[in-house]
Amino acid sequence: MKTPEELFVYNCWYNAGWASEIEDGKPLARTFLEKPVVMYRGESGNYVAMDNRCCHRAAPLSLGRIEGDCIRCMYHGMKYDSEGKCIEIPGQDLIGENFVVPSYPLVEKSGMLWIWMGDSELANPDDIHDYAPLSDPAYVGLEQQIHYDANWMMIIDNLADFSHLAFVHPNTLGGSEEYAYQSTHQDIEKYYNGFQWTRWHKNSAPPPYHSVVSPEGEAKVDRRNVVTIYTPGVFFMETTFAPVGWDPDSGDTDKVREYRNCQFMTPETRSTTHFWWCYMRNYDLDNEATTISLRDSLLAGFMEDKVLIEQQQVLLENSEPFQPRMLTADRPFMHFRKVWDRMIKEEREKYPRKEIKIRNAII
Ligand code: FES
Ligand SMILES: [Fe+2]
Repeated sequence: MKTPEELFVYNCWYNAGWASEIEDGKPLARTFLEKPVVMYRGESGNYVAMDNRCCHRAAPLSLGRIEGDCIRCMYHGMKYDSEGKCIEIPGQDLIGENFVVPSYPLVEKSGMLWIWMGDSELANPDDIHDYAPLSDPAYVGLEQQIHYDANWMMIIDNLADFSHLAFVHPNTLGGSEEYAYQSTHQDIEKYYNGFQWTRWHKNSAPPPYHSVVSPEGEAKVDRRNVVTIYTPGVFFMETTFAPVGWDPDSGDTDKVREYRNCQFMTPETRSTTHFWWCYMRNYDLDNEATTISLRDSLLAGFMEDKVLIEQQQVLLENSEPFQPRMLTADRPFMHFRKVWDRMIKEEREKYPRKEIKIRNAII
């Protein structure tokens, strides 16, 4: 079986969830890249993340008590500062130099938390793929999350090719099968850390999730999706529904409806994934029924993907090795895969894995 170091890049920012998921005074246990982590907000307001494993007997620190910016293990009471260094042992003055648990930079941007699981010296918050619409009052949406029993690359694969909308989501996100036949990716741009494509579907029936809330109802539209995906698992999409014949360069916004969508896929393990998302719109901002309807429609669509992808995972895990065949539409994903493999290789060459020798294991 592959080691985590063969599967994951460590020196990059991974989305760690919505900041609102961290309750005051309450540590949160969450696994990233097969490593159990505890996250909390210290009394100074700073976010803290470290291994969720006390260095004494591996008790989970998520069962511990936050004291200022520190956390105390509630097994035998060792107290750790926000960098994971033990600073107090009840009944013992001597604190060994290796009484430390690894800690990780954890920062908040636009209401989302980002964690750096690699060398903290290399962590620069400017590199975070912050999504501007999340903090733009011109857009409204709801903070959401799903958990997948599948490898995160399969979700990237799903999002990289929208021809599946026609077959997986005919009654929710897609509309007719025509979408797969009559529209293809255009303007694929390859980046060193991802890709972008645009897909137009002109003079088409609007998909159900949009027509049920849009002031234009069932009127035909020109539909444009611009999808950008970055490593390790960051998906941004701009969607425009415009009157048929609309010229995007005209500056005309009459009856043009805009959506902004962000989805963040962070590997929990090689076969499970955290998925945070928010679908935002720029019209009828105060209409709560519209907000709920869009959330429910998108969630219904995502569940259609989830059922299929989790079954793929089961098949891939439990049957003989599988060699996928590639279609032209897979070009963006193939590029993504290549980029990821290159990043792992470069990182392992530069930061070879340190072998840890355990002399006296507990179990
Ligand atoms: S296991 Fe944490 S103090 Fe003993
Ligand atoms: Fe989908």
